[in-house]
Amino acid sequence: MASSALSAAIILAAGEGTRMKSSKPKVLHTFAGKTFLNRVMDSVTALNPGTLAVVVRFQGERVGEAARSYNEHVTVVEQDDKPGTGRAVQCAMEQLAANGELTGSVLIAASDMPLLDTETLGALLDFHNNSGHGATVLTTVLDDPTGYGRIIRDSEGNVLRIVEQKDANSSELAVHEVNTSVYVFDAAVLSKAIKGLNSNNAQGEFYLTDALETAKQESAVGAFAAPDPLSVEGVNDRVQLAALAKAHNLRVCEHWMREGVDILDPQTTWIEDDVAIGRDAVILPGSFLQGHTVIGENAVVGPYTTLIDAVVDEEAVVERSRVQETHIGRAANIGPWTYLRPGNELGEGSKAGAFVEMKKAHIGNGTKVPHLSYVGDADLGEHTNIGGGTITANYDGVHKHHTTIGSNVHVGAGNLFVAPVTVGDGVTTGAGSVVRHDVPSDSMVYSENTQHVVEGWKPEWER
Ligand code: UD1
Ligand code: MG
Repeated sequence: MASSALSAAIILAAGEGTRMKSSKPKVLHTFAGKTFLNRVMDSVTALNPGTLAVVVRFQGERVGEAARSYNEHVTVVEQDDKPGTGRAVQCAMEQLAANGELTGSVLIAASDMPLLDTETLGALLDFHNNSGHGATVLTTVLDDPTGYGRIIRDSEGNVLRIVEQKDANSSELAVHEVNTSVYVFDAAVLSKAIKGLNSNNAQGEFYLTDALETAKQESAVGAFAAPDPLSVEGVNDRVQLAALAKAHNLRVCEHWMREGVDILDPQTTWIEDDVAIGRDAVILPGSFLQGHTVIGENAVVGPYTTLIDAVVDEEAVVERSRVQETHIGRAANIGPWTYLRPGNELGEGSKAGAFVEMKKAHIGNGTKVPHLSYVGDADLGEHTNIGGGTITANYDGVHKHHTTIGSNVHVGAGNLFVAPVTVGDGVTTGAGSVVRHDVPSDSMVYSENTQHVVEGWKPEWER
């Protein structure tokens, strides 16, 4: 992308987003795993603006804090009580000018467009720079333009101004080309253009859109149509949010299918943007692939499986399970109904079966934990088998303790390992053992559990 210097970018995030009917600001709602604000900031940051400003007001502290968490170099600007997108930019420009005179291009973007991407912004910037215009607005054409500002052109097609829905007459309302709320301005043109803004309009707000008309007195203004209409779709309520998320997810699924991944039902398979999937992997219905999850070739995931920042190597199978921050080795077999919490390493050909929960467990190659067990803060060697219903008691109420079990160990059913405890290689344990003390290699351990029989006994109600 040959975008020449962008001196500043201003992201507008001061609005409440009343139509979301939410206790949190609209820009902190999530889309495909990241907030709207995070997504727009990432797209803008990739263009390397000299300064990145985010304008806040509604729950400003919370939005400002979020912005800083996504990019520590952000300049947070507080908008005052005067309402409107124009006022937001006035406040930002005032603060930016305090750091010295701005020259070059300034990008302005609303923050309620979750799919606004770097490619679209870069193309807008290139168009602007090549046109020599003082201002360029990013537009799109919508079947239903209701609610948007309309782009008004003269008979030769030159952009004259933007008219908001609430201020438009019937012929203006008939226009389908709309303002996306993304612009590039020459810094000097912008500074002049926002000076004269007023709030003499249907909403009593300072409109940034009016700055386009004033900019015309300084230099030519233009419009650039977004190549991909989805990239500029705004979200104002939760119905639009769901529809846009669905459309985006379908694209992501189609991308992976074209890369050689089998997705049985794209309608019920949700894949976030940073996921990677190998060829001939099979994703079954009802699966959620989130964060930086990586799935190897020929792996089978689902049905009804959630993977969060998980790594699933080739040929592994993960069925009806929830897996987070866990590495599943090649050809391992997980599920059904397995809960792998953060910090597990499962070796090649290992197994975690039904109703098994693990946390910070290292399971060696070929080791199997097939049924109804909890393994937490534990290291298990290779080719060890854990009997059903076995628990590592890792928590004494204050501290977590570690269990180490060696290789080629046969743990009987219903064992309890009271950590900290270490069991050597080649050990066999009896069913129902409570292992409180270390066990040397190549030994057998069982704990006495006396069986008492009371002959002829009956419950009281039967006596
Ligand atoms: C705005 C545009 C409209 C465009 C539409 C695209 C104006 C006057 N209108 O209308 O032409 O078609 O976006 O979605 O600009 N914001 C602030 N401070 C404020 C008000 C808003 O920072 O005082 C921020 C909001 O957080 C939001 C963005 O500006 O990110 C747009 O505000 P919104 O109220 O959604 O404007 P629209 O009415 O949608
Ligand atoms: Mg809006």
